Amino acid sequence: MAQRVFVTRPIADSPLRRLAEAARVDLWDDDLPPPHDELIARLANVDAVISMVSDRFDAATITRFARLRIISNFAVGLDNIDLEAATRAGIAVGHTPGVLAETTADLTFALLIATARRVAEGDRYVRAGRWRTWTPRLMLGRDIFGATLGIIGWGAIGQAVARRAAGFGMRILYAKYQSSRSRSFAASPLRAEQVELGELLAESDFISINVPLTAKTRHMIGQHEFALMKREAIIVNTARGPIVDQEALIVALKLERIAGAGLDVTEIEPIGADHELLQFPNVIVTPHIGSASHATRIKMAELAVDNVLDVFAGRPPRRCANPSVVMRAANA
Ligand code: DGY
Repeated sequence: MAQRVFVTRPIADSPLRRLAEAARVDLWDDDLPPPHDELIARLANVDAVISMVSDRFDAATITRFARLRIISNFAVGLDNIDLEAATRAGIAVGHTPGVLAETTADLTFALLIATARRVAEGDRYVRAGRWRTWTPRLMLGRDIFGATLGIIGWGAIGQAVARRAAGFGMRILYAKYQSSRSRSFAASPLRAEQVELGELLAESDFISINVPLTAKTRHMIGQHEFALMKREAIIVNTARGPIVDQEALIVALKLERIAGAGLDVTEIEPIGADHELLQFPNVIVTPHIGSASHATRIKMAELAVDNVLDVFAGRPPRRCANPSVVMRAANA
């Protein structure tokens, strides 16, 4: 009997065709996610799912699928999946590390520069017909060259951000976060200094958040941490919204405790257009597009499909997030 796969969103054509040559594919052909009940219904009788960060696989959901052997997440982040529950159920979890770090670091730098140099604000100003003349006081921002960048998380994305910062002549500090899954990286030739989180927060002009969302990192940046930052500090978050306590961020912005924020992620996604955070001119919010380049989304799709095909071939997914899993047998 053919293997069955549910793909929860349209992905690149060529990997999807490759998947369809090996299995019966049920594609949710809409950019909006399937409602949770529909997700559960579609998964009742499939061997594999290619899922997105916005599809929730909590323990209660996972235990409902007797046939499922792999959740192949189209993301490096895994906070939408209860890994322990999947492991207990004998379901392998695949993800897409290694192919999106550079693209995400590009967006991190785009937000850093755009916030420091008021790019989005300048664009709004011109479109509103407010540009009347050149004047020395117009839209003054902050220098990136020579400033100190603090990177929270020294994984693939954090180090890719550091390489860009080196090109801008920045001083680079980093604070490590070790998840149980993190791999060690070869010693980096970058001139970057490892410091404790408190020192990083106090010394940095720019702070980039590059850690996964876990129980340990949820709200790791809150009122106490904002109080340690310089008033000139700009924070950039391209990781996950709940790492920053958004209420505390709003208070810090109101009190001018910090100078601005560039956010690709928010606590609740999507953030409402009338949300208070969007009232601040010194805040830029993009819609969780860190890995959204044409080339990278194809690589992510290829890897998500490879992870599924590995399981169909009887081996663990090549990018397995729960390597200790004893995979359940294929349905006869
Ligand atoms: C990831 O890979 O975790 C991103 O957030 C989705 O691209």
